[in-house]
Amino acid sequence: MNKMTVKDVDLKDRIVLMRADFNVPLDSSLAITDDTRIRETLPTIKYILQKGCKKLILMSHLGRPDGKRVDKYSLKPVSAQLQVLLGEPVKFLDDCVGEDIKKEALSAREKVVLLENLRFHAEEELNQDVFAAKLASLGELFVNDAFGTAHRAHASTVGVTKYLKSVAGFLLEKEIQYLGNVVQSPARPFVVILGGAKVSDKIGVIENLLPKCDAILIGGGMAYTFLKAKGVAIGNSKLDKDKLELAKNLLEKAQALRKVIVLPLDHVVVDAVDPAAKILFSGESIPDGKIAVDIGPKTIALFKEKLSVSKTIVWNGPLGIFEMAPFSKGTEEVMHYITALKATSIIGGGDTAAAVAQFKLVDKMTHISTGGGASLEFLEGKVLPGIAALSDK
Ligand code: 3PG
Repeated sequence: MNKMTVKDVDLKDRIVLMRADFNVPLDSSLAITDDTRIRETLPTIKYILQKGCKKLILMSHLGRPDGKRVDKYSLKPVSAQLQVLLGEPVKFLDDCVGEDIKKEALSAREKVVLLENLRFHAEEELNQDVFAAKLASLGELFVNDAFGTAHRAHASTVGVTKYLKSVAGFLLEKEIQYLGNVVQSPARPFVVILGGAKVSDKIGVIENLLPKCDAILIGGGMAYTFLKAKGVAIGNSKLDKDKLELAKNLLEKAQALRKVIVLPLDHVVVDAVDPAAKILFSGESIPDGKIAVDIGPKTIALFKEKLSVSKTIVWNGPLGIFEMAPFSKGTEEVMHYITALKATSIIGGGDTAAAVAQFKLVDKMTHISTGGGASLEFLEGKVLPGIAALSDK
């Protein structure tokens, strides 16, 4: 990586301002249901503390409060969980800018300070310069470890870099290393698994990875638009009508490049998307009125066969409605199969990461990205503004 990291700077006695992505899921009682994103930033936080910083001021967003203070999006629960995981007191401040906040942050007994949700201020997402300057004035050095937000050009990811030397944390570096290697020099055969509901979410990834990979296996809701484009009947299954032409073009492009796009051969079908619905199976064509909710056993076997020789696997998007147990088999079986292979397995964030956690396979994958949208944009070959803005080596 040609960007500076925390290892390239002297942290002793410095006031470090660090952007993390603590956008974690909370339940209705505001308890954190998955603290992966907090745990993944611990190596950077601990390193900065070990190197003797004067103060570590952490900032993040949580949810989409649209520029207003919304209690359920407070970072307070994150502060408590961070304190537990870190084993050190964390001072939580109820705002992120202003002279009082600055004073409180600097005079706090605690070395680690967490600011309130940046997105309680509309200026954050607008990347407003005055707001960015206020944030930057809190520290002497900026560390960005928020890979999950690196695709957003906001005040706390891009704006502050105008004012402070800006370096990457270990999580950001790790994500770039794994996702970057895959895009630039994957060990072959390189197989991409794509799923999830919408074709539109994955077009960029298909276009970028098709020339680089050996095969793309498609399942999940997006598969039915591709099947329809091939002239296969899809019953009442999910269809992105306005992406039909594009799906056709992508299939033709794959042929021209002599790459394989593998579509489901059979499906789990139901009359209604309901976990209690009677499960039926269909071949490639889906009968009138039926809705496909998962890949069928022949497709699972076919996907396994294609994956068996692979050396690199990138997976983004589940192969069925895995959140409902009766429709989770395709995603679960293929995930289990991958963990037994001697291949590098890179899992995109969001739903795919949630599926890996649901099937308790987290420790068995090579890398699980903490970024949903960010990992997708990275795999699309886009330059992420939060990375681009960091100081060059
Ligand atoms: C994410 O969860 O993908 C990141 O935290 C970014 O959140 P956003 O999509 O609301 O910008």
